Amino acid sequence: MDLGGKSFVYPALLNTHDHLRGNYLPRIGPKPGEYYLTWLPWDNDLKASATYAERANLTVDDMYTLSSYKSLFSGVTTVVDHFPHSINQDFLPHLPIRAIQTYTLAHEASSYDLKWGDGIEIEHQRAVANNWPFITHLAEGFDEESMRGLANLERQGVLDRHDLFVHCIGFSDEDIRKTAGAGASISWCPASNMLMFNVTCKIRKFLREGVNVTLGTDSTHSGSANLLAEIHYARELYRQLYGEDLSPQTIFEMVTINAARALHLEDSLGSLDEGKLADILILKGRSDDPYENLASAGMEDIEFLSLAGKPLYGELRFLDLLEGKLPLGYSQITVAGRPMFAIGDPGAFYTQAREKIGFKKTLDFLPFEPGQ
Ligand SMILES: [Fe+2]
Repeated sequence: MDLGGKSFVYPALLNTHDHLRGNYLPRIGPKPGEYYLTWLPWDNDLKASATYAERANLTVDDMYTLSSYKSLFSGVTTVVDHFPHSINQDFLPHLPIRAIQTYTLAHEASSYDLKWGDGIEIEHQRAVANNWPFITHLAEGFDEESMRGLANLERQGVLDRHDLFVHCIGFSDEDIRKTAGAGASISWCPASNMLMFNVTCKIRKFLREGVNVTLGTDSTHSGSANLLAEIHYARELYRQLYGEDLSPQTIFEMVTINAARALHLEDSLGSLDEGKLADILILKGRSDDPYENLASAGMEDIEFLSLAGKPLYGELRFLDLLEGKLPLGYSQITVAGRPMFAIGDPGAFYTQAREKIGFKKTLDFLPFEPGQ
């Protein structure tokens, strides 16, 4: 590939926590000056909100397509859709990006969780048998049950390297040490945590204890617009909390190799190595340091993205990787003044979605206007 100037090549990014039927805006949070104690009142507020009612103009299929564009336009080719297989299995195989299907899950580990899957022990056994991750929200709150989330899992004998815990804001220092000792991973979702609880997990302690930390957006109902925005938020928050920088290399690892490890996909994803899949992200070089360049990148800096060697999105100069022209199944849009090819027809999709919604809705993770 001749990049013809100043660009950096990265492994495409992995988002370890999203809910693909929930990427609609604006966000839903507590009343000004108030915060939640657990996720449950947030869920109630969401379902009573105008955002939720407006979202209902789109089909579930539409929501999955929309969410795949949230990933694609932020350089993410691999995402976790935190829902049971029974809910998402009809949608995931048809998306332009990779929403993993090789996982088991629980919703949470509290008595009031949503009882997804076949129960924690069975789901975890299945993860071990298949070398998949067992993924669950955990300690997303400060009531007694949330605080006991990890102890609950430990009692059930499921604490090990297959586990990927999302949020962990109620974790004690002891919980963090146990997570490190078990070789488990966490998905840090700072924007969602701060909106709902005005606090996030003890992220510096997790890093110092050597826990495999990844980054997740959660859905846009509570989190950032996309993973690039979440990276910016994570850096800013870390600086505010600790008065020091979260190194851009650490952030890079969170959204690449650490995430691949957490999903038990490190043999095929997470780095640019021989024998791995060609999930490639090319970004405009704005900084001399490649890590800093990624950590400060926006949607307008993406020059090219591929999934297992298949171009998904990019500047027209990369069309020679296709057939030298726009092939069937691709369309053209304009992002930050540049004509870009994209898989599928996101422009037509945006137009149709707006017709269904009934007005010219702006969705922050779509970096283009249809027809321009
Ligand atoms: Fe979540």
